[in-house]
Amino acid sequence: MIATKTTPDTRLLLDVDTGIDDAVALLYLMATPGVALEAITCTAGNVGAAQVAANNLALLELGGCEGVEVALGSEVPLEVPLVTTEETHGDQGIGYAVLPTARQEVSARHAVDVWVETVRAHPGEITGLITGPLTNFALALRAEPRLPELLRGLVIMGGAFNYPGNTTPVAEWNVSVDPHAAREVFAAYRGLPEDKLPVVCALETTERIECRPEHIDRLSRAAGAGGERVSPDDAAGTLSTNANPVVGCVSDALRFYLEFHRLYDQGYVAHLHDLFAAMVATNEARYTTRLATVDVETDSRLTIGQTVGDFTGMWRQPPNARVVSGNHPGECFDLMIARLSALARTRGADRRR
Ligand code: BDR
Ligand code: CA
Repeated sequence: MIATKTTPDTRLLLDVDTGIDDAVALLYLMATPGVALEAITCTAGNVGAAQVAANNLALLELGGCEGVEVALGSEVPLEVPLVTTEETHGDQGIGYAVLPTARQEVSARHAVDVWVETVRAHPGEITGLITGPLTNFALALRAEPRLPELLRGLVIMGGAFNYPGNTTPVAEWNVSVDPHAAREVFAAYRGLPEDKLPVVCALETTERIECRPEHIDRLSRAAGAGGERVSPDDAAGTLSTNANPVVGCVSDALRFYLEFHRLYDQGYVAHLHDLFAAMVATNEARYTTRLATVDVETDSRLTIGQTVGDFTGMWRQPPNARVVSGNHPGECFDLMIARLSALARTRGADRRR
């Protein structure tokens, strides 16, 4: 059974590189009672930072959450050239979905200022959620090294531990885009109490969150929007005709992601990494963690971007992360369907293209 929160007890500050799974995560957060989105900062990753910002603003409007600040951050990683992946997420970052330009504009504040000012103003109250490369957060840590203590907590989607990468044989995308930033972030958490250590959602558990066509169909039916058929037999790029704007957007976005995963022999499924991280940040997903000392390779030609976790104290260094070791995909999809369908119901049937 899905619990319904009634009090605003989760104040979230997001940094994202939206991104299909970031988009689904954002819609889930907008739809979750008790979650307050303090601001959304944008990092370059899946697509360029300006496109990330445009996507976030459009999604906020789609979800009826205008007014949440959206701020641009760094347009490039700390030390390596930017690589984006339109192949994975589509030219605009949300697959085949096409959302109108939002009315709201990007904030005048820089992402780093948003993080530093928001967290300083509310010590111990803000949970950070980062579902893109760690560039902005690393820069914010340079500006305010006390962020780890001042945050209530931090959830990161990134890395792969004793598990193949999805970008190189050993590196996960978010860390691979900016390995130096990831290294700085993990270093900043060395020696902190366990409850302050970041919860790291890495590929070995996020790839278990396998969205399939039936999840999209269940979402549509739960929203009262009829069946939503997305089939591996459809021509690539077939667009949804669903009258509900939220269902149509999610369907068109996820179809692209399903096709991408099939292209790489993973089946007609879509890994919703960032959705799981969002559910960890709201404390709605059940999960287990293992303490680890995490470092990131930044020098090797072959293994740059690899996250190395010492789970047994071989390095004799204090842990700096809580790496998720177990999760419950079925429950995550029940939650996704409950939340997104509730949001879809409130957004009516006036699909805008
Ligand atoms: C991560 O990389 C991005 O493509 C996804 O949005 C997710 O944050 C998975 O490796
Ligand atoms: Ca992402």
